[in-house]
Formats: sequence, structure tokens, C-alpha cells
Amino acid sequence: MKRLLVSRALPDSVMQVLRAEFDVTLRPTTQPMSEDEASAALMGYDAVLPTLGDGFTADAIGRVDEPRCKILANFGVGYNHIDVGAAAAKGITVTNTPGALTDATADIAMMLILMAARRAGEGERMVRSGQWTGWHPVQMLGMHIGGKTVGIIGMGRIGKAIAKRCHDGFGMDVVFHNRSNVADAGVPAKQLGSLADVMTIADVIVVAVPGSPETYHLIDAAALKAMQPHAYLVNISRGDVIDEAALIATLQAGEIAGAGLDVYEQEPHVPDTLKALDNVVLLPHLGTNAEEVRANMGMMAVENLRAFFNGAQVPNRV
Ligand code: DGY
Repeated sequence: MKRLLVSRALPDSVMQVLRAEFDVTLRPTTQPMSEDEASAALMGYDAVLPTLGDGFTADAIGRVDEPRCKILANFGVGYNHIDVGAAAAKGITVTNTPGALTDATADIAMMLILMAARRAGEGERMVRSGQWTGWHPVQMLGMHIGGKTVGIIGMGRIGKAIAKRCHDGFGMDVVFHNRSNVADAGVPAKQLGSLADVMTIADVIVVAVPGSPETYHLIDAAALKAMQPHAYLVNISRGDVIDEAALIATLQAGEIAGAGLDVYEQEPHVPDTLKALDNVVLLPHLGTNAEEVRANMGMMAVENLRAFFNGAQVPNRV
């Protein structure tokens, strides 16, 4: 049996399958692997099933001369914690789990749009703290999203699923920014010439590009400045796609209406200055947190491992 390191416990159904087919070692922690652990894993195992935040950096991979590990079967669609170039240079295949989580992540985007625009976080805090004195016509007025314009940054699978929900479910107009030309966004949607155009026009911006060196701080101070004062910003991708300090300053200055965040630059650290703001909804990276979704992601990782060790075409090579 091949030796497999599983970096974090997965749903039981997935662990059972893995244990039946591999000699599994499960790390006894929910914390990400350090770079040292990553290097050691590359030497000690035939395969690793890593996930969010595990330290498979260029340095961690580069310092292993002849890795025993030949596949990193990532649990998750995002693989910004793995230096794919460094892995390729050492002959290590990297796979991910696209598709299994598209709808669940798009749902969280909708939840954040609604929670931010309709002030659900603030309202919940008010009720729980005993501050609610009763309904009245001008209490906690927010923004109705029907008929408004959503601007989607990154029209990949998840961007399209968000566009469909916004258009079909809420009657929103859809504009978007994407690096390459998108012939069919699935619903009527306009691809605009620049990021700034989308930031300027939209009432709600949703960030759905993958995290990578190319998208680091894509939403910077200038992009935030372009937003309208009544607009909301939602991020369900990776925290460092937004310049978090610039976002905090923008919110503190009241230059946009609010934000809904599922991801942060230094997870799990969420700056106190962000927590102090009432017009921000803060979720703990819940984009894929439905039991069946996590099980499906796990089974995709299993399929990738199986195909790899059977010498078959690996379905989700990145
Ligand atoms: C993903 O699949 O990328 C989620 O963010 C969890 O890592």
C-alpha cells in the first residue's frame, strides 16, 4: 500500500475509503502544516493530501532533493498554498477539487451580499445584546439588491454560479471583469474593459478570482476608491486578493457602504479594526462548509490519487 499523509481530518466517509486503499497517516491537528512539516512529508510519504494553508512553498519543496512523494492531491479548489512550479520541477503532480464546491461557494457569496446589504449581522448583534427596542419604519435601512448591478471579478465556475443566482434569482444586472475573454457567462452579462469600470459601475462587487501571485492585492486602494459610496464589497476567494488594510481604511472613512468577507489576508487572524466595524459581515471561511460538499471534495481527491497510482489520466491536474 502507498503511504499517504492526510493533513487534516476529512469527513468519515472519505477517511474510510482512504484507509481501505492507502496506508494512511492522519495529522492529529486542525492547524496547517509548517514548511518544515511539508518538506518532511515530501520525503516520508508516497502521496500527501494537503489543504488550505499547508506550507508547500517553493522553499519547502525546493529543499527536498529527491522527494518520495509524487502527488499532492489537494483538498479544495484553491491551491495558492502550493507552489505548483516548484512541485513540477521536482516531478510532483498537483491536483485539486474543482466543481464539487462551486454552488456551495456561490451560495455563501449570496448570503454575504444579502447579509451586508440588509444589515443582518448588525441586526443579529442588536437582538442578542438586548438593544432592540422594537420595529419602526426607518430602523436599520439597507439596500434592496433586486434591480441593482452586481460586478463580478473573475468569471470562472464560481463567478458564473454567482452571476446565475444574481440574475435569475434576484433580477440583478451582471457586469464582470475577467483576464481573458468570456464568450458565455451563462446568463446575460457584460464583460467590461477594465477592473476600474466594474468597480465604478456596480452596486455590489463580488471577488471570485483564485488567489495567486497575479491576483495579490488586485483590489487595491485605487480599485476601492473607484467604488460608489452606497456599494458593497464581498470576498469569497482568498483574503490577499484584497488589500485588507486599504479596505479597512475605506470602510472607516465611510467611502463604501459595507463589506461581506469569508476570507482574510492572514487567516485565522482578523484585525481588531475590522471587527470593530459594524458594517462588515465576517464569516470564518465557510465557502464549502456543507457536509456533502466536503465529502464530494474528498472523493474527488481520492479519484485523483487512484488515477495517479493506477497510471491512468489524472482528472484534476492543475
Ligand atoms: C477551496 O476549496 O479553495 C476552499 O477555499 C477551501 O480551501
